[in-house]
Amino acid sequence: MNYNLLKGKRGIVFGALNEQSIAWKVAERAVEEGAIITLSNTPVAVRMGDTDELGKKLNAEILPADATNVEDLEMVFTKSMEILGGKIDFVLHSIGMSPNVRKKRTYDDLDYNLLDKTLDISAVSFHKMLQTGKKLDAIAEGGSVLALTYVAAQRSFVGYNDMADAKALLESITRSFGYIYGREKNVRINTISQSPTMTTAGSGIKGMADLYDFANRMSPIGNADADDCADYCIVMFSDLTRKVTMQNLYNDGGFSSMGMSLRAMKQYTNGCDEKDDDGNIIYG
Ligand SMILES: NC(=O)c1ccc[n+]([C@@H]2O[C@H](COP(=O)([O-])OP(=O)(O)OC[C@H]3O[C@@H](n4cnc5c(N)ncnc54)[C@H](O)[C@@H]3O)[C@@H](O)[C@H]2O)c1
Repeated sequence: MNYNLLKGKRGIVFGALNEQSIAWKVAERAVEEGAIITLSNTPVAVRMGDTDELGKKLNAEILPADATNVEDLEMVFTKSMEILGGKIDFVLHSIGMSPNVRKKRTYDDLDYNLLDKTLDISAVSFHKMLQTGKKLDAIAEGGSVLALTYVAAQRSFVGYNDMADAKALLESITRSFGYIYGREKNVRINTISQSPTMTTAGSGIKGMADLYDFANRMSPIGNADADDCADYCIVMFSDLTRKVTMQNLYNDGGFSSMGMSLRAMKQYTNGCDEKDDDGNIIYG
């Protein structure tokens, strides 16, 4: 269904790698709702992924950039304004990666150089994006900026590793920058906290299939998928949410407000004497 919610708006979508990517769905929905956009991803992702295909489909120019590199971000904002013909009304930060997770380093055996990279790619890049946009005065008055996050920023989730710290920082940047950018330019900055979603980044998380299943059963209306997330992003980019800023907004079927469900309790009592391969009781 098309409501023309973004008619005449200009946007930048960071992080569409392939059809599974949340950013891919957001880009498609944004154009469907009347926006014109540019797409950005790392040069290697543009080479290896399917971003080109999406660009052709949506008539959107692709601007390869590493979101941890301020000069690259300056190029993306400057060129996007040229291509789209004015200041940018909305930006999606859909970027996350943990080299510690990739290298299977556990949370009590982190490589600190890799931790720096996790934080830079997954959180500080959001600050860099906002600071660059503000310095270039590239984001229009009343614009809307979103980043995607996960509930592991608030509560401990087995296997989410240093990405939990990155998401906590990402949400903090949202509040800190939201105050400044809101006060000066009425720019809204929010995070959407999404259910586990089967994407390239999502599949990197240890035990993702089980986590997905658990969250789906625990959420009264089930996990939100990438299309649901895209719909929420469109509303947040639209003028219907002019006064919403500095928020962490859950798009998770109710999961974050659940404590214990009947099914989970029954399942737990059936299996709480489970032991690991060495015969030790598994806690939690
Ligand atoms: N999949 C999930 O379960 C889930 C749940 C909650 C939140 N999220 C968040 O959603 C966002 C999008 O992830 P996704 O699930 O669509 O996976 P995805 O793998 O499709 O997207 C991640 C993107 O980050 C890009 N990226 C990595 N390093 C980058 C860099 N240095 N500069 C620019 N881009 C870079 C990748 O190229 C990729 O396009 C991430 O922030 C992720 O943490 C995902």
